Amino acid sequence: MRLRPGRLVGTFLALLPWWLLVTEFNLCSAIASQTDGNQVDSPRERIRLRTGWKFWRFESRPDNLVYEPRPYANESGLFVLKPWILPTANEFIEKTENRHEVPSEDPAIDIPYVKDSFDDSDWEDVKVPHDWAIKGPFYTNGDESPITGQMGSLPLHGVGWYRRRLSLSPSDVGKSIYLEIDGAMSYSAVWVNGKIIGGWPYGYNSYHLDITSHLKEGDDNMLAIRIDNPPDSGRWYTGAGLYRNVWLTKVKPVHVARWGTYITSEIAGDSASIEFAVNLENKAEEQTNVTVQTDIFEVDSTNGRPARPVASFPSSSVIIPADGQKSILTSATIQNPRLWGPPPSQSPNLYLATTTVLHGGKVADTYETQFGIRSLTFGGDGFSINGERLRFQGVNQHHDLGALGAAYNHKAAERQLRLLREAGVNAIRMAHNPPAPELLELTDRLGFMVIDEIFDVWKYDKNIADFSLIFTDWHEPDVKTFVRRDRNHASIIMWSIGNEVGEQGGSTGFDIATELSKILHEEDNTRPIMASLNSATASHKFPQALDVLGLNYIGEGMEYPGYSVLPEPRRQPLYESFHEAFPDKLLFSSEFAWSLSSRSSFIFPVTEYDGAPVLDHSGGDVNTLEISGHELYSSNWSVSHDIVFTVQDQLPYLAGGFLWSGWDYLGEPYPWPQARSAYSGMIDLAGFKKERFWLYQSQWNPTVRMAHVLPHWSWPGREGEITPVHVFTSADEAELFVNGKSQGNLKRKEFEYRFRWDNVTYEPGELHVITYKNGEFWANETVTTTSDGFKLDLTAEFENIDADGEDLTWIAVRVLDEQGRMVPEADEIVTFSLSGPGEIVATDNGFQADFVAFPSNERKLFNGLALAIVRANSPGKIVVAAETEGFQRAELVIEAV
Ligand SMILES: *[C@@H]1O[C@H](CO)[C@@H](O)[C@H](O)[C@H]1NC(C)=O
Ligand SMILES: *[C@@H]1O[C@H](CO)[C@@H](O)[C@H](O)[C@H]1NC(C)=O
Ligand SMILES: *[C@@H]1O[C@H](CO)[C@@H](O)[C@H](O)[C@H]1NC(C)=O
Ligand SMILES: *[C@@H]1O[C@H](CO)[C@@H](O)[C@H](O)[C@H]1NC(C)=O
Ligand SMILES: *[C@@H]1O[C@H](CO)[C@@H](O)[C@H](O)[C@H]1NC(C)=O
Repeated sequence: MRLRPGRLVGTFLALLPWWLLVTEFNLCSAIASQTDGNQVDSPRERIRLRTGWKFWRFESRPDNLVYEPRPYANESGLFVLKPWILPTANEFIEKTENRHEVPSEDPAIDIPYVKDSFDDSDWEDVKVPHDWAIKGPFYTNGDESPITGQMGSLPLHGVGWYRRRLSLSPSDVGKSIYLEIDGAMSYSAVWVNGKIIGGWPYGYNSYHLDITSHLKEGDDNMLAIRIDNPPDSGRWYTGAGLYRNVWLTKVKPVHVARWGTYITSEIAGDSASIEFAVNLENKAEEQTNVTVQTDIFEVDSTNGRPARPVASFPSSSVIIPADGQKSILTSATIQNPRLWGPPPSQSPNLYLATTTVLHGGKVADTYETQFGIRSLTFGGDGFSINGERLRFQGVNQHHDLGALGAAYNHKAAERQLRLLREAGVNAIRMAHNPPAPELLELTDRLGFMVIDEIFDVWKYDKNIADFSLIFTDWHEPDVKTFVRRDRNHASIIMWSIGNEVGEQGGSTGFDIATELSKILHEEDNTRPIMASLNSATASHKFPQALDVLGLNYIGEGMEYPGYSVLPEPRRQPLYESFHEAFPDKLLFSSEFAWSLSSRSSFIFPVTEYDGAPVLDHSGGDVNTLEISGHELYSSNWSVSHDIVFTVQDQLPYLAGGFLWSGWDYLGEPYPWPQARSAYSGMIDLAGFKKERFWLYQSQWNPTVRMAHVLPHWSWPGREGEITPVHVFTSADEAELFVNGKSQGNLKRKEFEYRFRWDNVTYEPGELHVITYKNGEFWANETVTTTSDGFKLDLTAEFENIDADGEDLTWIAVRVLDEQGRMVPEADEIVTFSLSGPGEIVATDNGFQADFVAFPSNERKLFNGLALAIVRANSPGKIVVAAETEGFQRAELVIEAV
């Protein structure tokens, strides 16, 4: 299916299925709780391989193996695994002649770790998802470290081996058995019972292996997975190891193929026509005649389960050849569909298609496909969903979960989204790689629009060991697995094939973009394709290959007075020229405002401008490695928030954009390479809101009655000095008082996004702001000078958690003065402890240059706050305590059930 060019520009409708809540997410037998009175026992079984793993990481190459010789390393005598790995891609390679032959022999090298007889008793017991690097320790010797601040200063490199037993019961004999790996960082290779089965180099994609013929009945099948994660493989913290879920799926020989359904829809009037394609696979030695029946249910948003049946696809019978596949295409109509759309103006309504495959009157397989119905319009004048014109109030998100690393945790991923939603975020760009599949289940359910992105590099490298090394062999299979896995998600509204790739200038970039788009649109033609632009201009050929145009930083230009310290010539704004050259293409900012701050750090003096680059002594302090929370300072190639808001409000055709970034993340600690995590989030690495959070909330969630004042007002030694006061609020008028004296009443002018009183003289006491909207009281806020710290205070985000070893709660500690006010610059070292059936997984304080390893129970408060992340391993009462030298111990009780 080819994308018809007119289609993206006109109203085009797409309804996406998404994900297979039970079949694909829950471990136990698929359909068990499906619909009242309509329960089917499915022979499909999906088992999460979470426990029972043994793990060892080597900094060396004890096995003398390598995926392929790396051009930049002087390695010799290594055995090359590539011929055994490449065939895993065959299923995703279109042309037969491009597919890879499976070597007839096993690798001619003795690998002890794949053998049943190998003694792994002294290896570490780990649970998957597992990120071997996150526990640290951090490297602290700067450029001399094998992993520098750019990639998080954590030991993510090396060779890791995972071993685990698999059991095959007598009733499993005759079934088809697949190993499904949602993500392994990186160059994973898999052995079953001593035989190499395949693997997948790109660490961000999901893949699967048919291991049926390699298993034997009984409990002692040995699964061994080798991970080889080179240093210099990326531009941020990649994580390391089996950092996403691993599954074993058991099905009858006739079954719905992996990622074997595809749903699209088109809305016309009061109904939606739904097209459903299902790909059936027959692993049996004889052809098989099956009947396929698929019903559509509304999903109950309170529990994610199917509620009311709304339509059925006509059932069809089909003969599937021996060891072959067959696709069935059917359609149905849903009357008065409940559409999927982002809150608050719309609701993320979902549907579930349940497919039953019958063979000889018996259920051979069941499969669930979740989807949403919505219409998307991408035009030169903006973006609409379900007829409503919306701007992207988006953020870019990296894949790490702060102190938890890259190891996927559902509760932590949900927490990231929950806080972003509070700021009014309606869209997420998965920067710059496919996320864990479960994260897309969350964006579907919560109603975030998503840009799903696959590559940060193509053929031109950004780091010596990055994806460019394997682009030629792997781009086709990687694009295909990416789209097939994700195309049913309602939340995904566009695909991105590249981020700031090096090929934007010449015709190479145009050619590669055209090729990738062709591969992608053959798998899904219901969404437009972008690649973010940071060096191309409107006159380059590159943007012609793209359906929609996402610009990183270059739209606004740099010609603002605060940026005059940068070398001339400064960049010209480019939005107008792109809009003129491509009047029919949607134009938005895929990254804006790479601005920088440390939570609640305030550095004086404050720039008089509405944005300026961070320099030592201007917004930043290279000694403390802090950056001021005035939220006016940005990188040398990007302007500040206030300027971005102005430009967006002046250009009505711009469809908004995506802030760099939603949360702080590990690595990329610009501008201080001495630090280890990024300064660019509206929320810090620990999950504490930075000042910027309220700036965005005032613009993106303006119904919240709020007035956020900065800085804090406890500045011993600043008496008599100019101490600017800024207020973030959606009100249109504000008056500031210092100890009751008015500092002036300000009315919001056009293109102003904060109230600022830049001539306030500091005196201890009380800062009070009263704001008004349309002449009526809106919100007020008081900030007072605190006295000395008096006691510790603990608060838990969740007081009840599941005792499943995965659910989490976050416990914040702060210091209060005698009047119960938080002491803003408290910096005591807190020792956390825990009694009961739980554990402290990690601690953090959100400071970008704190090099104490995350699992440490001791954490220095940063600007008054620190955090402990706690999980429960069995039911009971968990007491979490915090103490410091100066203050009494504080305690808090968590119930684990
Ligand atoms: C590889 O060998 C060359 C020539 O001996 C040497 O110049 C280079 O530094 C070596 N590179 C590494 C990564 O060891
Ligand atoms: C396949 O099975 C269906 C249902 O039992 C039957 O109606 C149909 O005739 C069969 N087709 C063939 C080719 O056997
Ligand atoms: C930003 O630009 C200024 C002015 O040219 C320069 O002094 C500074 O080093 C640059 N910062 C970084 C992190 O490159
Ligand atoms: C702040 O004070 C300076 C010097 O008194 C004055 O020039 C300036 O206009 C004042 N700025 C504001 C915003 O009141
Ligand atoms: C601030 O707001 C609170 C509640 O919204 C109100 O009780 C109080 O009187 C207000 N204070 C001032 C000075 O407006």
